[in-house]
Amino acid sequence: MGAVSNLLDSKGGEVLTVKPDQTVEAAIQEMEKISAGTSVVADNGEILGIVSERDVIRKVVLQGKNVADVLVQDIMSSKLTTISPDTSLDECMQLMTEKRIRHLPVLHDGSLCGIISIGDVVKYLIVEKDFKIRNLETYISGAM
Ligand SMILES: NC(=O)c1ccc[n+]([C@@H]2O[C@H](COP(=O)([O-])OP(=O)(O)OC[C@H]3O[C@@H](n4cnc5c(N)ncnc54)[C@H](O)[C@@H]3O)[C@@H](O)[C@H]2O)c1
Repeated sequence: MGAVSNLLDSKGGEVLTVKPDQTVEAAIQEMEKISAGTSVVADNGEILGIVSERDVIRKVVLQGKNVADVLVQDIMSSKLTTISPDTSLDECMQLMTEKRIRHLPVLHDGSLCGIISIGDVVKYLIVEKDFKIRNLETYISGAM
């Protein structure tokens, strides 16, 4: 099974980040622009946490608060689970399942070099499986 670096080769290493003192409204507008479900929270190059659609629903909307009145730092998750480009996709799925998270920022030498989501892993595994099946079919038809 491939590693995170293979997945990032096809997906790219761009990561949306927002500052902790930005409003949740500003953060979700940035997330919507790229159809992303999270934003990493960083300031002066330091990674402070992550904020997801789920955080907004649970900690703002369900609390009857207004996204324009709440700051990212008030709802972000600062306990960040990260991976490296060498992490296997198997390990990623185990981490996502154990910790009930859907996004894993990728760090290389301490700096952010990508982010992968559960949808990225599923898509990559489907492409990898189809590739293997086609190869096997070619091999079988070649052997006959
Ligand atoms: N066909 C595809 O290429 C593809 C890839 C991923 C997800 N999806 C679909 O999108 C829906 C939601 O996906 P999800 O649960 O994986 O989460 P998501 O909505 O966060 O993922 C959507 C895309 O945004 C990217 N993303 C998320 N946070 C980011 C950030 N901070 N910076 C840069 N990129 C970021 C993800 O890596 C992913 O490629 C699901 O229905 C899934 O099937 C499709």
